[in-house]
Amino acid sequence: MKALILSGGRGTRLRPITHTSAKQLVPVANKPILYYAIESVKNAGIDEVGIIVGDTHQEIRAACGNGEQFGCRITYLQQDAPLGLAHAVKIAEDYMAGDSFVMYLGDNLVPDGITELVKDFQAGSYNAQILLAHVPKPNEFGVAELDERTGRVVRLEEKPAKPKSDLALVGVYMFDKSIFTAVNAIKPSARGELEITDAIQYLIDNNYRVQSHIIRGWWKDTGKLEDMLEANRIVLDSLSREVLGDVDETSQIHGKVRIGPGARIVNSVVRGPAVIGENCVIRNAYVGPFTSISCGCIVENSEVEHSIVLEGSSIQDIGGRIEDSLIGKNVLVGRSANRPRAFRLMLGDNSQVGLI
Ligand code: TTP
Repeated sequence: MKALILSGGRGTRLRPITHTSAKQLVPVANKPILYYAIESVKNAGIDEVGIIVGDTHQEIRAACGNGEQFGCRITYLQQDAPLGLAHAVKIAEDYMAGDSFVMYLGDNLVPDGITELVKDFQAGSYNAQILLAHVPKPNEFGVAELDERTGRVVRLEEKPAKPKSDLALVGVYMFDKSIFTAVNAIKPSARGELEITDAIQYLIDNNYRVQSHIIRGWWKDTGKLEDMLEANRIVLDSLSREVLGDVDETSQIHGKVRIGPGARIVNSVVRGPAVIGENCVIRNAYVGPFTSISCGCIVENSEVEHSIVLEGSSIQDIGGRIEDSLIGKNVLVGRSANRPRAFRLMLGDNSQVGLI
């Protein structure tokens, strides 16, 4: 059994962050999302991991290396253009060399892991098995229709107007080698991509055995800002307190807070769950619940809550509170002292700013 983790793609919904960085490396509770995927796969007993990479391959290779840090062996598979999830499977055919595999979307988070799914697939005699979750708005997802008696999947529909069930496809799939027959047989969809739902539907239509596996815990596709912040909120809530940095006497640390080594908290309030990375300086500031601040950041005379701040950024003298935000690397958010009084901005393409 091998794994295929998809870490290419366009990431249009997370621009401008994805103009310069891989969305799979955005940290949730100060750990790249992709690391959770690799750890899940490893915890399910899989040591051979193929990672599909695109334009951001250098950054992903630098972050994950040969897999030694996770106890597995990573092979990078270059996808020249993001031509769809089934296209990513297609280019992995040689790497899989006839083995069965788990395919995991590298921007998805399944905190309870995939061990049960992998065991279920190994115990059954299925050609494919798809992870499903009950969702409140199935019309926003790929939806599976099941034979309720056997759990066999009888139909898949992408964002149906009238969903036949509330079971959405979560971004984890089990396949045996018959998936390669399917991805080589299907044609690109209207949006020009080889769709994994079409490949699975091909298996169903040709009498291959496609089984469901329903998860009980939560999962998140972090492809959009709100979902990324929600994933951050839920993961932070599960962490325990650990204060390694320096907290001065005038500061207060409440609840589940992790403060990295070399960080300094001066005359500030940090209310958890929150995580503050190595070598940050938090001065005359408030860091509120559900906030992740990566290493080397400065928050001074400012308030931040329910946000993710990437490494090397400074938030200084803003005199208000930043909320529900994702701030990239080496960003400066500060006061403009020059006259005339004005907002002075240098924003990347597709940035979003909410002023009050
Ligand atoms: P998506 O989030 O569906 O697609 P995307 O990354 O292009 O993002 P957006 O819709 O915002 O433009 O992709 C799910 C995962 O699969 C993600 O980790 C990227 C990866 N992927 C590939 O590796 N190759 C591909 O061809 C595609 C479409 C996605």
